[in-house]
Amino acid sequence: MTLASTTFSDFHRQSLQNPDAFWAEQAKLIDWQTPPQQICDYSNPPFAHWFRGGTTNLCHNAVDRHLKDRANQPALIYVSSETGIEKTYTFAELHTEVQRMAAILLELGVQQGDRVLIYMPMIAEAAFAMLACTRIGAIHSVVFGGFASVSLASRIEDATPKLIISADAGSRSGKVVPYKPLLDEAIALSSHKPEAVLMVDRGLTAFASVAGRDHGYAALREKHLQASVPCVWLDATAISYTIYTSGTTGQPKGVQRDTGGYAVALAASMVHIFEGKPGETYFSTSDIGWVVGHSYIIYGPLIAGMASIMYEGLPTREMDGSANAGIWWRLVEKYKVTRMFSAPTAVRVLKKQDPAYLKQYDLSSLQGLYLAGEPLDEPTAKWISEALGVPIIDNYWQTETGWPLLTVANGVEKMPSKFGSPGIPMYGYNVKLLHETTGEELTEPNQKGVVVLEGPTPPGFMQTVWRDDARFVNTYWKSVPGKLVYSTFDWGIKDADGYYFILGRTDDVINVAGHRLGTREIEESISSHPNVAEVAVVGVADALKGQVAMAFVIARDTSALQDEAARLKLEGEIMKLVDGQLGAVARPARVRFVSLLPKTRSGKLLRRAIQAVCEGRDTGDLTTMEDPQALQQIRDLMA
Ligand code: PRX
Repeated sequence: MTLASTTFSDFHRQSLQNPDAFWAEQAKLIDWQTPPQQICDYSNPPFAHWFRGGTTNLCHNAVDRHLKDRANQPALIYVSSETGIEKTYTFAELHTEVQRMAAILLELGVQQGDRVLIYMPMIAEAAFAMLACTRIGAIHSVVFGGFASVSLASRIEDATPKLIISADAGSRSGKVVPYKPLLDEAIALSSHKPEAVLMVDRGLTAFASVAGRDHGYAALREKHLQASVPCVWLDATAISYTIYTSGTTGQPKGVQRDTGGYAVALAASMVHIFEGKPGETYFSTSDIGWVVGHSYIIYGPLIAGMASIMYEGLPTREMDGSANAGIWWRLVEKYKVTRMFSAPTAVRVLKKQDPAYLKQYDLSSLQGLYLAGEPLDEPTAKWISEALGVPIIDNYWQTETGWPLLTVANGVEKMPSKFGSPGIPMYGYNVKLLHETTGEELTEPNQKGVVVLEGPTPPGFMQTVWRDDARFVNTYWKSVPGKLVYSTFDWGIKDADGYYFILGRTDDVINVAGHRLGTREIEESISSHPNVAEVAVVGVADALKGQVAMAFVIARDTSALQDEAARLKLEGEIMKLVDGQLGAVARPARVRFVSLLPKTRSGKLLRRAIQAVCEGRDTGDLTTMEDPQALQQIRDLMA
């Protein structure tokens, strides 16, 4: 298929009508040790197996493959405004570091298929660790460094890692955030115990080591300076990693991804969506703990032969610790970034600063800013578009999809973006809008429905829920009566031109500053406070963060609520509890006390009604509500 002569609509049609031919072509974008024998095996829906019989390796495609043409070009550019460290690793140097890390993993007993849990701040060693895992066929499971002991414990329990890689501490706005005590507590809480813990000591804070279990990275690296560890050729369907994400229950799901399909999907997206060229620089401001960090800090740009900037710190702080909301733009100028990826929240933070910060730098290298993770509001999009003068490209996807589902593919055909819309369905995705209860397809423009996908899902999409095929099928594929379709759990509408607009989640997931959180997990944490009888957590619209969590609590002992000071004390205790168990990202913005919570007669919390009241919207049909008084209390509190 020659791109020059292809319209996007043809491209998309071919991807759905003849997926084998389409993806066989895309598969040429990566290196295979053995070419795939079968492109798509969809003999057991909804499980799609891509590129069966092919063998490849993600680390090979991200690193080794480029040694021939660009060994001495930058691969990983590490910048930390927290520690003042700035260091560039060429492809050759990255290759060396990844082999050292891989040798350490082997020495610590990690074998193909073993899980390695990575609980690390944004340091270069975290990238080495991920690449070292995929190099030897170990399955990495990166847990966001902002999560605390209880969140971490449930992930350790589920992933059952042989090894955990961590560091002494993270740092936020110059404040050291120790990781090791949280990790030790998480291991104590989990019934699974890792055989070994590998600690990267950044020298930020002292930490205690457990003899026989904990190992220092620096000494082991020294031992393996000359390491030569070849890539293991893996079946295309071999698991590359799991990443946990929140849903309706309190138990996070391990989103499981393959090897070959993921490599092809990312390589294709770098060409068709991000238009990144080898030798150029990509800058994603996300974190390796999130899917964007996996796909577009580590694997995507490197597979494309681009240098990738990995940035630790706030967008408003310079390398010397001084305030400067221009650091990202200074990095764009310095490293001649061509493609940048961030989240609307980050842009809203910058928008509050003096626009002069943006004007100080030569941004002529920049060709596109891609924003994802939460709805992009029009004022934010307009502001950044005018300030940068480059296309602002909204893209909608999920941890589950691995790469954009709705956006525009300017690498295939230049198409206009529409404010407020992430765009149109990407190649490989058969997107439909269905009526919430009847499951009927909505074909008229501007009807609100649930955004779903018909199988087979494209390469790069999650394979299943780690160790739980039944949960994968029941959670994602059985939510619409009588139809086997994948639910995104997002509301959407489609306009007459085929552009989609995302209207928020249909489930209890909230999105705080682009971070996806489950309200059930927050509720479970709050419930562990001795004075909490019942709790409801909802996401409420926030001008800066998109949404914030708001908790409504029924206290056991109401004498603890007699005056404002007492209420503030209990609110503070609850916030601290969530901080310690789940991490500050999950901390509710407010805790309010009520004597009743709105529920249906069968006892189901009416979170949507609470949310509507908090946002001053119409609550819709409340005929199923047990006691109308409950909502009135919340209305009074919010007034
Ligand atoms: O609700 C949608 C919202 O974020 C959810 C997925 O979050 P996560 O799994 O963390 O993956 C983020 C990958 C970018 C979606 O179900 N969301 C994501 N992107 C957008 C969005 N909502 C509106 N517009 C977007 N561009």
